[in-house]
Amino acid sequence: MRTADLIAGYGKSTAVEDINLTIYKNRVTALMGPSGSGKSTIVRCMNRIHEMGESKPWQNGAVYFEDQNIYDSAVNPVLLRRRIGMVFQRAWPFPTLSIAENVVAGIEMGVDQPKMNKADLAFVTEKYLSLDGRVSDRVPRL
Ligand SMILES: Nc1ncnc2c1ncn2[C@@H]1O[C@H](COP(=O)(O)OP(=O)(O)OP(=O)(O)O)[C@@H](O)[C@H]1O
Ligand SMILES: [Mg+2]
Repeated sequence: MRTADLIAGYGKSTAVEDINLTIYKNRVTALMGPSGSGKSTIVRCMNRIHEMGESKPWQNGAVYFEDQNIYDSAVNPVLLRRRIGMVFQRAWPFPTLSIAENVVAGIEMGVDQPKMNKADLAFVTEKYLSLDGRVSDRVPRL
């Protein structure tokens, strides 16, 4: 993956500019810098999740993944994010799903997960939620 003259910001402010960075396949790359220096902004531009924020995010330049610019109009950002995942600093549940449905989503959307029947899903969901003091007194709804 490679960024070419990537520049990104929020509203009228520029968070990062002149970012020309190559991320090599099968290698671990660490991005280091002080808090607020723009690490997350760069990473968020790499799967186009940056453009989903509510704080007027913007970006320019290119990000190439397997020689295709992910900002090309032909690229479907939803399909792109299936291939370029992101692990957030804080867990963030899907807002339109119930708590139980959020647990099941993790199981069902997982890569290479064996399919589970409804009874097994309910059992596993209840098992995990019963460990969580914040929700253990609520009834699972699937
Ligand atoms: N949602 C947002 N709205 C407006 N400005 C933002 C937003 N997110 C980040 N910024 C600003 O963009 C700049 C870069 O922030 P960013 O979160 O990318 O830094 P970071 O290096 O990941 O910091 P940290 O180490 O704290 O995670 C900062 O000036 C920050 O205040
Ligand atoms: Mg960050």
